[in-house]
Amino acid sequence: MTIHGRVLTAAGAPTVETPLELVEPDGDLVRVRLTASGVCHSDLHVANGEWSAPLPMVLGHEGAGVVEAVGPQVRTLRPGDHVALSWYAQCGHCRRCRSGRAWLCTGTRATSHELPDGRTSLRDAHGAPVHAFLGLGTFAEAAVVPEAAAVAVPDDVPARIAALIGCAVTTGVGAVLNTAQVRAGDSAVVVGCGGVGQSILLGLALAGAHPIIAVDLSDDRLAHARALGATHVLRGDDPDLVAHVAAITDDGADHAFEAIGRPETIEQLPSLVGRGGNAVLVGMPAEGVRASFDPFDLADAGKRVLGCNYGSSVPAVDFPRIAGLYRSGRLPLDALVGAVRPLAELDAAFGDLRDAVGLRTVLDLTK
Ligand SMILES: NC(=O)c1ccc[n+]([C@@H]2O[C@H](COP(=O)([O-])OP(=O)(O)OC[C@H]3O[C@@H](n4cnc5c(N)ncnc54)[C@H](O)[C@@H]3O)[C@@H](O)[C@H]2O)c1
Ligand SMILES: [Zn+2]
Ligand SMILES: [Zn+2]
Repeated sequence: MTIHGRVLTAAGAPTVETPLELVEPDGDLVRVRLTASGVCHSDLHVANGEWSAPLPMVLGHEGAGVVEAVGPQVRTLRPGDHVALSWYAQCGHCRRCRSGRAWLCTGTRATSHELPDGRTSLRDAHGAPVHAFLGLGTFAEAAVVPEAAAVAVPDDVPARIAALIGCAVTTGVGAVLNTAQVRAGDSAVVVGCGGVGQSILLGLALAGAHPIIAVDLSDDRLAHARALGATHVLRGDDPDLVAHVAAITDDGADHAFEAIGRPETIEQLPSLVGRGGNAVLVGMPAEGVRASFDPFDLADAGKRVLGCNYGSSVPAVDFPRIAGLYRSGRLPLDALVGAVRPLAELDAAFGDLRDAVGLRTVLDLTK
């Protein structure tokens, strides 16, 4: 089947609309007609060359769509089902999968940008392989993914919301509920208030955290953070940031989340939490970045540094849970959606991310 997608051929170069051959959905594969995709900074890390990846590649990993065809071994999905896509298709067999921790799967091929059997899902007009980012490649009209990467969501969840559940929301809300296990009345600080940080803010409001401090360099992002539940906002270049957080939280926050991936903000994170606090690393740095901490402070104050992959979530459990919270009005995910653009404007959507203003840009893939 021939589809159109936007292909990255070199880091830093514009993406190019390209006709692509999509593999048939045999075995446990599912073909999804894509309807919406968010544009996440993890796509930009690759487009900027900060993460190495096999090129050419169709980026995009925060997507939703409607199942169009299923392979004979598919058990949980049928044509017509609305799905949100998981960018970490678990193998189902490894030690972590068997213990219910799909976000730690060691058998996934998603991080090689391949199908479970090692093929790429896409080829160009000459038959040469084109990689689909994290095995999805949602900056295209359709995708073929393993059954484990497509999770049914109710039909009345709008496509743009289902798309954001595929990455930013599950990561941000999961960081709060699963990784940090925030309790009502805990204090929290969020450093970096883009799409992921905004989702952390909604998760904190849902959990009943108080106070909630948002930190960013963009005044526009801080204004959005207030609307999403932050009780206090501080600028990231405030030289007295640590003292201000300590004053607001009575000697340091119970939880601090870094949602940028910069060494300076990662290194500062433990100093924002008080004794016994959690410093949660959600932002993903460029390859090769190192950060250092004061180990005496960590040991003496009983602070914990927690890594957070995909909000410590199991998509088959957490996507429907989040969709249910959205439908009940408890999780106002509409508040996360910013500009809506057609696929042809992908490079402009990357520009929105680089500018660090507004809310998450979502591509409407039906246009
Ligand atoms: N852990 C995971 O599973 C996971 C999942 C998705 C995304 N991510 C990562 O999360 C990070 C954020 O993604 P996003 O899509 O929200 O990005 P984004 O670009 O939308 O947001 C980043 C925000 O950080 C702010 N910022 C930059 N430098 C700052 C500083 N020094 N101090 C304070 N604020 C600063 C920017 O103004 C912007 O608002 C990326 O590294 C991405 O790769 C991780
Ligand atoms: Zn993402
Ligand atoms: Zn596994």
